[in-house]
Amino acid sequence: MTSGSPASRTDLAGFLAGRVSTDVCAILVRFAEASATLRDALAVAPLSGMLGKTGDTNVQGESTAKLDERANDIFCDALRLPSVARIISEEEAEVVEVGDGPYTLAFDPLDGSSNIGYSSVGSILGIYEGILGDAFTGGAVTGRLLVASAFTVYGLPTMLVVAAGGEVASFAFEPDERAWLLAAERLSVPEAAYTSINWTYHDRWPAHVQQAVQAASDGLRGRYSGSMVEDILRVLLAGGVFMYPEDSSSPQGKLRMLYEVGPIGFVMETAGGGASDGAGSVLDVPITAPHQRGPFIAGSAEAVARYEAAYAEGRPD
Ligand code: AHG
Ligand code: MN
Ligand code: MN
Repeated sequence: MTSGSPASRTDLAGFLAGRVSTDVCAILVRFAEASATLRDALAVAPLSGMLGKTGDTNVQGESTAKLDERANDIFCDALRLPSVARIISEEEAEVVEVGDGPYTLAFDPLDGSSNIGYSSVGSILGIYEGILGDAFTGGAVTGRLLVASAFTVYGLPTMLVVAAGGEVASFAFEPDERAWLLAAERLSVPEAAYTSINWTYHDRWPAHVQQAVQAASDGLRGRYSGSMVEDILRVLLAGGVFMYPEDSSSPQGKLRMLYEVGPIGFVMETAGGGASDGAGSVLDVPITAPHQRGPFIAGSAEAVARYEAAYAEGRPD
């Protein structure tokens, strides 16, 4: 017996044509091509000496994996396009000047580094209108400047999710053709089924966060991987809520606004879900520094709403 739909023949560029500008299409296609290159490196990492650390730390004080560095090189090289003004990467301390284009690209070259060699990791891209870097004052920069975003998950299947032109679509990597083929379009976040949070941090959460996490998780089954992209893909396709709130060790939360929270929040909101810092949409939070962090609660709209209601009720004045 066969099941499922016949293989799609629509590739990423074909899907994007007519939905976004040629510049945005070119950026997303380059991101997808670079992701395929990184996937190849990840697939043989246990055989090629690419597992392990470099011995350096990045701007966030985190020890850098060899594959973090390789992934950063792949995306920095691939995304130097004429339409790009600047690049902001998790692995680059400073904003990188590229050219005179209208867009700033922010990316996390390798999300879920603690899972390298064991489980799924991915990459995240945000395409922002304007020249970010000079404008990090006065609350001028928010996620509302995003014109498109995307993320990949290097598992089987190897998936690419794109939010562009007012909708979210998923693509699967076809290795023989080295093509990203349309898997599903007009994605809409289903009702919540799974809750995704690092529960070992329970005692670090303020009381109102503890209450909000409990309220959002009510009736849901737990799944947490340590790779946000993997957990977010599950939430997007199967329904649920992913949470990384503020805690006593990370008072602003852990995840970075420009290349983690913003792009993934844009995907969730475009797919009809919620993306909140507890008090409101993450896309409205002023961003004043390239590596700024923020709390992140994202997924099925009703679960995010439960979080926000409990957070508001318990929050000290
Ligand atoms: P990165 O590997 O880019 O630094 O990001 C890791 C992030 C995210 O992918 C994941 O959800 C979270 O960190 C896991 O953090 P904890 O180990 O604190 O749960
Ligand atoms: Mn990350
Ligand atoms: Mn990373």
